[in-house]
Amino acid sequence: MDKNNNYSLMVHGGAGALDNIKDDKVAVRYLESIRSTLEYGREILEQGGSALQAAETCASFLEDDPIFNAGCGSVLNENGKVEMDAGIMDGRDLSAGAVAAVDNIPNPIQLARLVMTESEHVMLIGDGAMRFADHCGVELAPENYFYTEDRIEQLNQARLKHKIMLDHDDTEEDSEDQKYGTIGAVAWDLEGNLAAATSTGGIVNKRMGRVGDSPIIGAGVYADNETCAVSATGYGEDFMRSVISKTISDFIFMKDMDAEQATLAGIEYLSRKVKGRGGVIVIDKDGKCSSGYTTRKMIHGWIERGGDIVAKF
Ligand code: GLY
Repeated sequence: MDKNNNYSLMVHGGAGALDNIKDDKVAVRYLESIRSTLEYGREILEQGGSALQAAETCASFLEDDPIFNAGCGSVLNENGKVEMDAGIMDGRDLSAGAVAAVDNIPNPIQLARLVMTESEHVMLIGDGAMRFADHCGVELAPENYFYTEDRIEQLNQARLKHKIMLDHDDTEEDSEDQKYGTIGAVAWDLEGNLAAATSTGGIVNKRMGRVGDSPIIGAGVYADNETCAVSATGYGEDFMRSVISKTISDFIFMKDMDAEQATLAGIEYLSRKVKGRGGVIVIDKDGKCSSGYTTRKMIHGWIERGGDIVAKF
C-alpha cells in the first residue's frame, strides 16, 4: 500500500429508527453531508495532517450542517433553549478536552480542543466554559443561528409525548421513534496516531443542565494510540453507565481484539448491561474501521486505509 494512503477516517451523524427519513431527497442530503465531510477529512490526512486535526475539522463540518443535532441545528431543551456538549481526545498522550451545557458557541468541538490545549483542565461547563471562550477570543453566534423549524416542531412533539408518557410506559416503539442525534469523527493518521471527537445538542426536551455522554471521556469519546479511537451516539445515560468507549478500548487492550471484535463485544455489553440505545464508530491501532448499533439505523461513513468512501444508514 502507498505510504500516503495509510490513513483511516470515520464519521457519524446520529442513531435511531430514522423512520422520519422517508423522503429520498432527505436521505440523499444526509449521505451527501457525510461524504463531503469524509472528502474534506481525507485531504487533511493525505497531506500529513494529524488525526486530531482531521477529527476536529470533520466534527466542525458536521456541527455547521443544520440537519445534524450539534452546533447549528441542535435540539432544544425543556425551556426551548440550546445547550450543547462536546469532547475531544488525542490518542498520542491521552490529552482530552470537553465542554458541557454551552450556548452561543458555533463550534463546541473547537472550544473543547481549546480546553485541552489552553487550559490545565479537561472539562469546563456552563458559565465557566463561556467565560473561557471569551478569554480565548471565541466568536459567539446569536441564538437564532442555532434554531431550525424542525427542532421547534420536534420540541413541541416531545412535549406532547411527554404528557402521554406520564400515563403510559415508554414502549419499545416509542423509544425507537426518537433519533438520538450526535455527530462524531475518529481518525488514524499517517503517523499511526488516533483521535476522536464527539459533539451534540443532546436530547429533545432534556432538563436544563442535563449533560450527556458526548463530553464524558470514556463514555461518548475515547482515543488511545495503543488501542483505538471511539465516538458514540445514542441515549447518553446508557453510554455513561456502561462507559462504552473505554470499555471497547479495554477489550482491545486486555483481550487483544481488533476493531470489529471489540465493537461486537462492546455492543453486546451495552445491550446486556443497560439495554443501551445507540451506536459507535471505532478505528483500531491498525487502521481497521468498525461500527455497531443497537438502534435500527445509524448514519455513518468511513474511509478504511485510504480506500473508497462508504456512507450508509
Ligand atoms: N449522546 C448524546 C446525548 O445523550 O446527549
